Amino acid sequence: MTHADHEVDPMLDALIGLDMDIPAPHTPSPPMTPELAQAAHAHLAQARANDRAQHPKPRQTPTVADLLGKITPAPIEAANLYPAARQIDALARVRSMPRFVQAVRLALHDRDCVSGHLVAAGENGQILDRFCPHCQQVNLETRLRAQLKASGIEGRYLDSEWADLELLPPLDRVAAKCADIDALIRAGVSLLLYSEQTGCGKTQASMLIAKASIRAGHDAQVVNLARLALDVREGFSNRGGEGTLTERAALLRMTTPALLVIEDLGASEGETAAIERRLLGLALDHRQMHRLATVVTTNLPLVVPEGSRAPTLGSIFGARVLARLQPLTALHVNHGVNFRARKSEVSW
Ligand SMILES: Nc1ncnc2c1ncn2[C@@H]1O[C@H](COP(=O)(O)OP(=O)(O)O)[C@@H](O)[C@H]1O
Ligand SMILES: [Mg+2]
Ligand SMILES: [Zn+2]
Repeated sequence: MTHADHEVDPMLDALIGLDMDIPAPHTPSPPMTPELAQAAHAHLAQARANDRAQHPKPRQTPTVADLLGKITPAPIEAANLYPAARQIDALARVRSMPRFVQAVRLALHDRDCVSGHLVAAGENGQILDRFCPHCQQVNLETRLRAQLKASGIEGRYLDSEWADLELLPPLDRVAAKCADIDALIRAGVSLLLYSEQTGCGKTQASMLIAKASIRAGHDAQVVNLARLALDVREGFSNRGGEGTLTERAALLRMTTPALLVIEDLGASEGETAAIERRLLGLALDHRQMHRLATVVTTNLPLVVPEGSRAPTLGSIFGARVLARLQPLTALHVNHGVNFRARKSEVSW
């Protein structure tokens, strides 16, 4: 409805009062003075305070993200997270407490090893990679087992420990000395275990010596000279064929390890005798010159009664063979028990 349409109805006017369009009488606003402005501000501030007091804002429930945001993490340093590389390296050098070192290695392996590697902290907090000493030792033992197989020695010899065995003299002495294997290997002193009788524990003892050496961090190699010579001879006729070995490779096998075990140094007869003698002579010369320890087991006697023509170690491998093993301890395994003849725990 517009103004023009509006028809004046005095009755209606009287009922509803003044027409809405009629302007209200003009009331001028008072002049704004500083006092008035201040009073208005104070009034407004009071009104706001009253409102806040009467309608407090609901507290917001904090989210996980809020909480996490509030945590200021302490700076994480590599040194606190990882073993120190310096300590892992030192572990490889500690010789005095083999059991303790063994336990620490195993604990490190259990806690920090990832596929044979340890994450380690360097001096300045940098992150370094170290081989896990426990895994390295297990690898060496696995390699030793493979060598035993290649040398025709049963791997089960590695499953025994000294504590499982009967330590009849002189095996008790060998067992005790294994605790000191590191010093023996460093000094490059050799051992000859001999007995005319078989089954008296020479092979078993020599395998435990090899194992002790590996556990002390020295590599050990076990060879059966007759087998090695056979592989070399095969190589002559069957150049580079499978399972064959050059004489040079065979020699390296005998000269490089910190500990060499020559298993069952026996009566050399036939076609390989010359190769065996040559390999043995060269290997022992090298090892003696470099002060490397050698362990030999044999069923040959060192001496025979006057007049006897029975073979001796010297008669077969040359009179100098024992001199080439110096400094040497020769132990006669003469306890007289044949462990092989022992009744087994089960029988037919
Ligand atoms: N000290 C020991 N106590 C008990 N059994 C042993 C001992 N030494 C070796 N044996 C067991 O006797 C058998 C023969 O030992 P081995 O070392 O091969 O003798 P050798 O080399 O003197 O012929 C093996 O089966 C071995 O496990
Ligand atoms: Mg033997
Ligand atoms: Zn490991």
